[in-house]
Amino acid sequence: MKLLVINGPNLNFLGIREKSVYGTENYDDLLRMIQEKAEAEGCQIEVFQSNHEGAIIDRIQDAYFDGTDAIVINPAAYTHTSIAIPDAIKAVGIPAVEVHLSDISKREAYRQISYVSDVAVKTIYGKGFEGYKEAIEYLEKSL
Ligand code: DQA
Repeated sequence: MKLLVINGPNLNFLGIREKSVYGTENYDDLLRMIQEKAEAEGCQIEVFQSNHEGAIIDRIQDAYFDGTDAIVINPAAYTHTSIAIPDAIKAVGIPAVEVHLSDISKREAYRQISYVSDVAVKTIYGKGFEGYKEAIEYLEKSL
């Protein structure tokens, strides 16, 4: 299985930003964990991070052409504002699992709205880095 993991704005600042919310492990730690999990599951993985909505949409569209079987996406703040990202996921028709490190259901009211959930096959939140592992496992089992 060819898997694409997409991380949205400010996730590259893990370990620096709001440690009480997102923990002390940094972005490289997350990349390492994702890589190890992908190897354990025997899937090919690419991780893409961008702070720009358009770049995320371009990468989702490219996935249509490059043989990507499934997407794991943490759209970060774009979760709550972007219609174009869920539109792109719908357009390419590739199954996507939405992941959030924090429990967005218990945070500010504006974080409790996710436009991406409408198009995701599954949404995982509040499990920290483990959420990415769960998403990879879910896609590996269900595809
Ligand atoms: C986040 C939650 C979002 O509300 C926030 O804007 C983020 C990260 C999470 O992983 O918990 O940047 O997606």
